[in-house]
Amino acid sequence: MNKDRKLIIAGNWKMNKTVAEALDLVHGLKLELSNVKEVDIVVCPPYTALCEVSKQILDSNLRLGAQNMSEHNFGAYTGEIAAGMLKEFSVRYVILGHSERRQYQKEDDALIAKKTLAAHAASLKPIVCVGETLAEREGGRTQKVLETQVRGSLHGVSKAQLEETIIAYEPVWAIGTGKTATPDQAQETHAFIRRLLLDMADEVTAKRMRIQYGGSVKPANSRELMSLPDVDGALVGGASLEERSFADIIKNAI
Ligand code: 13P
Repeated sequence: MNKDRKLIIAGNWKMNKTVAEALDLVHGLKLELSNVKEVDIVVCPPYTALCEVSKQILDSNLRLGAQNMSEHNFGAYTGEIAAGMLKEFSVRYVILGHSERRQYQKEDDALIAKKTLAAHAASLKPIVCVGETLAEREGGRTQKVLETQVRGSLHGVSKAQLEETIIAYEPVWAIGTGKTATPDQAQETHAFIRRLLLDMADEVTAKRMRIQYGGSVKPANSRELMSLPDVDGALVGGASLEERSFADIIKNAI
């Protein structure tokens, strides 16, 4: 497949896997995917498995991501984890503003923008998540919602930092439901987000930024989705918990 932007496919394990289970999975992925050069492959285990997984993937083409981080660097924030702490385990990416955190932890765009800036300050690449609910799509508000989220979550981020930022478009109605956006819906929405980025930065920056699709990505739909002109990878939930399905999503995308 010929696209200027390198595909990036990340597994968001969410609150799953003990350390032993995590090691088992990455051991298999390392072997399965050792020859893949065409795709940036990222695994995002829970915090508790980062240390061990980090050691296991040192000499591989797998990269490490975290699922969240604090907007603060240190201090009296019980239960929080700072960017510098993630860096200790060679974490390169961090998922920010996932819809589950927007919903359950009430994270808003302003907070996500602070986290995005803190990630960049620590040279972590943020994967900033946006996406509309079913009611918003059915009410014809998808573009408005996405514009608010993209502009709000990236507020204050410089052009140079934007280039190192990944956007994950995850329609909330497609997450964990088995419902996937149709190729037309995905392409149209990704193109809309790229036009927004052009308006916020410039054409070169918008062309270089990678926009992942997330929401019930599976081996059976990854080839079609990943071949769309403005889809530059995937953020995979359920299907990333199993070696065979995550490896096949990546292989089918090439
Ligand atoms: P599923 O792939 O399970 O739908 O989850 C998508 C997701 O939320 C990834 O961040």
